[in-house]
Amino acid sequence: MIRAIALLGLVAACRGPWLPVATEADATRSNAAVADLNRGRQLLIHSCSGCHLTPSPRDHRAADWPSEVAEMRERSKLDADEVALITQYLTAFAEQR
Ligand code: HEC
Repeated sequence: MIRAIALLGLVAACRGPWLPVATEADATRSNAAVADLNRGRQLLIHSCSGCHLTPSPRDHRAADWPSEVAEMRERSKLDADEVALITQYLTAFAEQR
C-alpha cells in the first residue's frame, strides 16, 4: 500500500503540473516582460510546492488568481513584489475568462 502511494507520487512528479516557460509571444500577449513572467514562474515553483503540488495556471481562471494567491501569501511568506510576479505569471497562462 505504502509502495503504491509512493509510486503514485513518483508518476505525478514526472508528469508534473503544466508550467510553461514564457516566450516573447506570451509577454506581448499578456503585456508583461518575459523576465518577469519567468521570475514569477520560478517563485511559484520554489514557494508554492512545499505543501501541495505546484499550482498550474490552468487550475483557476485569470480573474480568480489574485485572490487565490493572496490567500496563500502568509503561508508562503512572500513579499508584495513576489506575490505580484507569481500572480502575473499565473494570470498570463490561465484561461482568460
Ligand atoms: C505552508 C503550506 C502552503 C504553502 C507554502 C502554499 N500553500 Fe496553497 N494550500 C495549502 C493548503 C493546506 C491548502 C488547502 C486548504 C485550504 O484551501 O485552505 C492550499 C490550497 C491552495 C489552493 C486552493 C486549491 C483549490 O482547489 O481552490 C491554491 C490555488 C493554492 N493553495 C495556491 C498556492 C500558491 C499560489 C502558493 C504560493 C504562493 C501556495 N499555495 C503556497 C498550503 C500551502
